[in-house]
Amino acid sequence: MKTFKIGVIGAGTMGIGIAQLAAQSGHEVILFDEMEAAMQAAQKKLQEVCNKLVEKSKLTTQEAVAIMGRIYFVNQLQAFESCHLIIEAIVENLQIKKSLYSKLEPIISPECILASNTSSLSISALAAACNNPSRVIGLHFFNPVPLMPLVEIIPAVQTNRIHVDALQSLMESWSKWPVVAKDTPGFIVNRIARPYYSEAIRIYEEGFADFASIDYAMTSVYGFKMGPFALMDFIGNDINYAVTHSVWESCFYESRYKPSFTQRNLVAANWLGKKTGKGYYDYSNELPGPNIKDPELIKNIAWRILVMLINEAYDALYYKLASYQDIEAAMTKGVNYPKGLLSWGEEIGKQHCIDTMNRLYLNYKEERYRVSIGLTNHVY
Ligand code: NAI
Repeated sequence: MKTFKIGVIGAGTMGIGIAQLAAQSGHEVILFDEMEAAMQAAQKKLQEVCNKLVEKSKLTTQEAVAIMGRIYFVNQLQAFESCHLIIEAIVENLQIKKSLYSKLEPIISPECILASNTSSLSISALAAACNNPSRVIGLHFFNPVPLMPLVEIIPAVQTNRIHVDALQSLMESWSKWPVVAKDTPGFIVNRIARPYYSEAIRIYEEGFADFASIDYAMTSVYGFKMGPFALMDFIGNDINYAVTHSVWESCFYESRYKPSFTQRNLVAANWLGKKTGKGYYDYSNELPGPNIKDPELIKNIAWRILVMLINEAYDALYYKLASYQDIEAAMTKGVNYPKGLLSWGEEIGKQHCIDTMNRLYLNYKEERYRVSIGLTNHVY
C-alpha cells in the first residue's frame, strides 16, 4: 500500500482518532494543536489506546511501538510543508478555520489536499478562504473514529473532482466506508437523522407519550439500538440541539428542522444528558420503563417517526444529496440504523408511506408533514 504523510490539525476528540487511524494504516502523521495541554493529553491518550490494543491482542508490542513512532507531535505549522493530505479537526468556527487555512496555504505544497472534518460548516465557504480553493474538501468522520466505518466525502463547488476519487481510495485503504455527499447542511447523516429526534420530541410535546415509551417504541418495534431520548442524552443535548439549530438555520429555516422548546430548555438548564447526570432521564435513579402498555399505540408512535425518516431520506435522494447506495450506507454505517431507509420504505410500501404523510399533513396542516416529491415521484 502506498503511504503518505498525513497532517492532522486539532488534537481533540476527533483529531486524536484520525491520527490513530492514519498511523495504524501505515502513514506518517504530523499532529498539531495550538494548546500545549491538548498535545500532551493527545500523546497520553494515544499511548493508552495502543497499550489497550496490545492487551487485547489486537496489536503486537512492535506494531504499537511502530504506530506511536509514526506520529510526530509538532508545535508549529511549518512542519506541514511536506504533507500530502491535511485533515483539519479544530473548533467548529468558520472564521477560526478560515484563518488557519490562510496561514497554512503559503506553507504547504501545491499538491497538498486540505480536508475539513467539519460537521456543519459549508465546505464551499471554507474553500473560499484559500488561494487554491480546488484543493479543499470535506472529510467527515464519525465518533469514535477508529470504530465507526462511515466517512462522508464532501466536495465544495470549487473542489477538483480528482480529490474525491483520491480520498475514496484512501479511505477504503483505511478500511472505512466512504460516501460522497453534496455540500449542503448536515451532509447526509446529520440531515436525514433529524426526524428521529424532532418527531420523537413532537410526539412527547403533544402529550401522546412519555420519553421511555417513545424510546421503547423505536427499539422494540423496529430494532433501533437506542431510542431517540436515550440517544440524545448520550450524544449530549447541547451538541444535538446545536446540530438541529444549525441545520434549520442553514436550510433557510425549513420548518421540518425547527428546534424544539423542550430541548432548548434542557440545554438552558444544563441538563445535557449522561455527561451531566441528567437530561431527558435522571441517571442518578433507575431509569423508568414505558408508561404505555397498548401495543397498537406503541406501533403507531414508532411508525410516525419511521415514516418521517423515510420521507426525509427520499427527499435527500430526490435533491441528489447523495446516491441511493450512499444514502443507504450512511444511515446504517454512520448511525447504526437497522436498515437503509430507502429500501425500508420500499419494503413497507411507498404508497403506505405517502398515505401516512398525507394523513399527518391533513391533520396538522403544517409544512413539516408534506410528503416529499422523492416519495411520490418514482422516476429519478
Ligand atoms: P475538540 O474540542 O475535542 O478538539 C478541538 C481541538 O482543536 C482542541 O484541542 C483545540 O485546542 C484545537 N484548536 C482550536 N483552534 C485551533 C487552531 N486554530 N489551531 C490548532 N488547534 C486548534 O473538538 P472535536 O469534537 O474533536 O471536533 C473537531 C471538529 O470535528 C469540529 O469541526 C467538529 O464539528 C467535527 N466533528 C466532531 C464530531 C464529534 O463527535 N465530536 C463528529 C464529527 C465531526
